Amino acid sequence: MMRHFLRDDDLTPAEQAEVLDLAVAVKAEPFSLRPLEGPRSVAMIFDKPTLRTQASFAAGIAELGGFPMLVQGELAGIGVRESIDDVARVLGRQFAQIVWRTSGQHRIDTMAEHAGVPVVNALTDDFHPCQLLADLLTVRERFGRTAGLTAVFLGDGACNMGNSWMLAGATAGMHIRVAAPEGYQPSEEFVTRAAEIGAGTGGSATITTDARAAVEGADVVITDTWVSMGKEAEAAGRLADLAPYSLTEELFALAAPEAIAMHCLPAYRGKEIAAEVLDGPRSVVWDEAENRRHAQKAVLAWLEARR
Ligand code: NVA
Repeated sequence: MMRHFLRDDDLTPAEQAEVLDLAVAVKAEPFSLRPLEGPRSVAMIFDKPTLRTQASFAAGIAELGGFPMLVQGELAGIGVRESIDDVARVLGRQFAQIVWRTSGQHRIDTMAEHAGVPVVNALTDDFHPCQLLADLLTVRERFGRTAGLTAVFLGDGACNMGNSWMLAGATAGMHIRVAAPEGYQPSEEFVTRAAEIGAGTGGSATITTDARAAVEGADVVITDTWVSMGKEAEAAGRLADLAPYSLTEELFALAAPEAIAMHCLPAYRGKEIAAEVLDGPRSVVWDEAENRRHAQKAVLAWLEARR
């Protein structure tokens, strides 16, 4: 049956492990997977800014033997100039797969419903599941495993990265602590979903306002911008509200001695993360950025094999 990758829990724990194994293999042998040989084309559509996502998908699709076609969201006007349903039907006739960065999750769900080809979430307001595959690959590389490790997500816990860490982390058997102030905590729906997943994997998700208690002894400490794309009008309030959750050297010192610092980038040094942490010896941010390509190649190949 044809599959999509619209949110982290679209992959079962066994499937997530399988995709990560494939990512490890394709990182070692970059041209060993050629499911898009032809070249067959993959659409990359961006309704929001991008650097890493466009670069890593374009390079990865080419390495899979395919051709990456950039569709500019502003020109396409998906859902404005033409309904999402109609766009999906048209793109599905041209492309092997569709990769889309957009706002509302319902938009990408609608695309998947009508495209007739696999659709991949390249970030929505709710989730950033491709980043999580790259991040879990990075965690595996550093610790040799994911299960049983504790990861803390600091700051805007209600953003896509907070949600994705809860779902994907629980799927990987990790203990996810989200440390965020009132008003910036993940919605109950996603916390409940992470708990359900954790019941089967041994993972968990907990929410706290106490950043210091959350970071204490953690293996992985993650943060993200305080002003996600689309939230620019709220910038001043967010910077003030989230300032106590900055990943400073002093806060990071509470984590386990072997702990790593993660950030999906772009990063704002001196705001959500101190320059000394981001640029320090325990930061793995450049590995995360590179691993986007390997993880996404794995998920595209995995989806292609299920058509
Ligand atoms: N939470 C951030 C992630 C950027 C890759 C945003 O949505 O802007």
